[in-house]
Amino acid sequence: MEIKKISLLNIGGFKNLDISLAPMAEYPGNVTVFIGNNGSGKTSLLRSISTALSWFISRVKSEKGNGSPILDIAINNDSNEAGIAITLMDKYGNTQARSLVNVPLQAGVPEGELIEDQFVTNWFIARTKSGKYGTVATELTDLSQLAAAYRHQYTQDENVSLPLLAFYSVERVVIEVPIKIKGKHSFQQIDGYDNSLSQGVDFRRFFEWFREREDSENESSINDEAIEAIGKALGINTGGELWDKLAELKASSKDRQLTAVRTAISNFMPGFSDLKVRRKPRLHMSIEKNGKRLNVAQMSQGEKSLLALVGDIARRLAMMNPGLKNPLLGDGIVLIDEVDMHLHPTWQRKIIQRLTDTFPNIQFILSTHSPLVISDVKDVLVYSLEDHEAKPLPSFYGKDANEVLLEAMDTSIRNEKVDELLNDLLDAIQDSDFDRARALLTVLEADLPNDNTEISKARILMRKQELRSEKNRQRD
Ligand SMILES: Nc1ncnc2c1ncn2[C@@H]1O[C@H](COP(=O)(O)OP(=O)(O)O)[C@@H](O)[C@H]1O
Ligand SMILES: [Mg+2]
Repeated sequence: MEIKKISLLNIGGFKNLDISLAPMAEYPGNVTVFIGNNGSGKTSLLRSISTALSWFISRVKSEKGNGSPILDIAINNDSNEAGIAITLMDKYGNTQARSLVNVPLQAGVPEGELIEDQFVTNWFIARTKSGKYGTVATELTDLSQLAAAYRHQYTQDENVSLPLLAFYSVERVVIEVPIKIKGKHSFQQIDGYDNSLSQGVDFRRFFEWFREREDSENESSINDEAIEAIGKALGINTGGELWDKLAELKASSKDRQLTAVRTAISNFMPGFSDLKVRRKPRLHMSIEKNGKRLNVAQMSQGEKSLLALVGDIARRLAMMNPGLKNPLLGDGIVLIDEVDMHLHPTWQRKIIQRLTDTFPNIQFILSTHSPLVISDVKDVLVYSLEDHEAKPLPSFYGKDANEVLLEAMDTSIRNEKVDELLNDLLDAIQDSDFDRARALLTVLEADLPNDNTEISKARILMRKQELRSEKNRQRD
């Protein structure tokens, strides 16, 4: 399932916004990123998508279920009504809707090549301020059909896959391990939607779920001693072919869903492995970091927020894809607001790559303030939000963070005064006005550290220009 298009009418500062999301022919990746200053509308946009998606979840849960409404406060102050329209493509989508849209779904891809039996579904959520008349109305006919198709599948086959839909807002809570766990929960795949759009990371649920699955894994899995004993009894040499078979047997007795979560975490956070629940001295969750055991409460804020995010996505995927051998290949849509939040620069640079490597079939819709997130990634569709309009930006692949800051984020990479002086200096050198250049250089040298590379470059440039002028003078 993936969103093709989203339109906002009078939501927050947006009057009329129409945007297509990746993947599409020019941007085959699964990632769309929104950048823009504070107040440019990134959160409003992501929240609106989440509002629209909440109706899918409610309609899958029950036939007449209602999702989240557009809040009065979100309706543009100059209007009485607002709306969110969404077009998404899904294997159970409505064929009729496809002809309604009447354009090749992916620009540049001939219709015959369209992923077979994937069809679009449109729905529209409207809201009029209380006490006012409105001209727009909610339209959910297509959505109800799509949801009914999923419900039908789920009724027939308990192991059917459901698409993950999740929104991680900036308020996403970070690791709060419950001290007491009340009773036992039942975890069915539909419960993968619990709080997925309202809260995002639900570490309490994560913990409960993990503990429960680990208990049953421990009951049914074959431990190392058992393997040793079997090996000995059968006279199997360690390292031989039969031994490998035994190891395989042991691996396959592990819980598939827990394995998915553990794999996601170690893919995402190199050096971290073997997340488990420990009961002593007190119930807690522990993880191995570079060979040493840690209580997850002891991890840094950045590590915790990654663990919580990746763990949550992986857990939900594992729950919603009980029939998949590798649940990390599950399908869905994940929104993350300010994906760089709490992350060290090296992790910011890698986050998109890691997300798409770990969860290859998820469509990601992200926002960020960090140039590092979007520099050095291929095939990512980046929109800049400005004055509540969205402008697609050319690829930043291979550019460094400074270029991204300058070109996309409209931020000077240096202090403005220094920048101006440096520009004047370069102009003076270019004009062979060496007296002025030397004066500017003196000012800059007094202001900046000795090893400033811009000053060194300017000195070399000046030397070259002096030689050139000298030569020219001799020639004349
Ligand atoms: N009801 C509204 N009417 C008009 N403008 C609004 C309304 N609600 C929010 N805004 C505008 O939207 C901005 C908030 O947008 P937001 O999505 O939080 O931005 P970002 O996440 O990019 O920082 C506010 O600064 C305000 O200008
Ligand atoms: Mg925001």
